Amino acid sequence: MLRIDKVAGRDTLMESEIPFLKVFKKGKVREVYELGAYLLIVATDRLSAFDVVMKSGIPHKGVYLTKQSSFWFKFLNQKGYLTHFVTDDIAEMAKLTGEKRLCDLPWLKGRAMLGKKAELVPVEAVCRFRVFGSAVPALKEKKWIWDAPEIDGEIKEGALIKNGPIFTPTEKSETDDKISFEQMVKIVGDKARAEEIKNKTVEIFRIVNDHAQKTFNFEIADGKIEWGLHGNELMLIDETFTSDSARFMPDKSKEFFRSWLKDHNLKGQAVALPDEVAMAVADLYAAQCRAMRIL
Ligand SMILES: Nc1ncnc2c1ncn2[C@@H]1O[C@H](COP(=O)(O)OP(=O)(O)OP(=O)(O)O)[C@@H](O)[C@H]1O
Ligand SMILES: [Mg+2]
Repeated sequence: MLRIDKVAGRDTLMESEIPFLKVFKKGKVREVYELGAYLLIVATDRLSAFDVVMKSGIPHKGVYLTKQSSFWFKFLNQKGYLTHFVTDDIAEMAKLTGEKRLCDLPWLKGRAMLGKKAELVPVEAVCRFRVFGSAVPALKEKKWIWDAPEIDGEIKEGALIKNGPIFTPTEKSETDDKISFEQMVKIVGDKARAEEIKNKTVEIFRIVNDHAQKTFNFEIADGKIEWGLHGNELMLIDETFTSDSARFMPDKSKEFFRSWLKDHNLKGQAVALPDEVAMAVADLYAAQCRAMRIL
């Protein structure tokens, strides 16, 4: 059922509903519909942290995420990478698919992306230029299962990996467990394909980080991308370098909210956010869009 709440007086999309389309998948944040040969990916304003969806959302978050993803997908398409991105323009979607009723859903505007359907590779392709979050204890407790990072000085939040980015995949499952490259080969079922995923992920992180530094004056600290198979070809899917899926320096990502939960002893709980916290998160996501000159 369509659910639009008010947060700090602003419309906040908590659930989408498109009665004339079949649901492909409802995720924690995005809801995906079948649309002919394509998928329609709708970014709601829901917020999840530590794998738990919060009771209230962030005004316009889905719009900010769609802008960020679209920018990097277009950028990577131009660099010659196959991505699932087709368009984020609803009139164009309607024209391409013949589904004109899409234009009659005012809440959809700015938060929908038409993507090519892929067979999911169940791996989160995480890559790190700096150590943050779970990477800190993994290194300190000698549980690092990937290529060795070179770090000057103390291992602490934000420490630069001189030979970064380092590919540090996790399994795409309920628990998102860290996996070694050898475990990833088993999951993917093909060593050459696993190597292609690793190499292309590292390449993309480098290209995006270079562009972000030179053009927008921010760095990628870490992040995850997802891959799928389109026919027999590897295709970049899901979302790319958004405030939900990456950390930036200076940071304008979900990290602020994760810290807020930890500071208030609420990690792992589904909370309704105080208006000022919801607006602080919204402002950060908008600021990331402004840093990228897309808002
Ligand atoms: N082109 C695509 N083809 C197939 N599936 C896709 C494509 N793009 C994105 N997806 C999937 O759509 C879902 C997007 O929703 P969302 O990211 O909110 O889910 P999630 O709660 O993170 O769930 P998951 O843990 O499965 O990612 C993800 O499961 C993602 O893998
Ligand atoms: Mg996801």
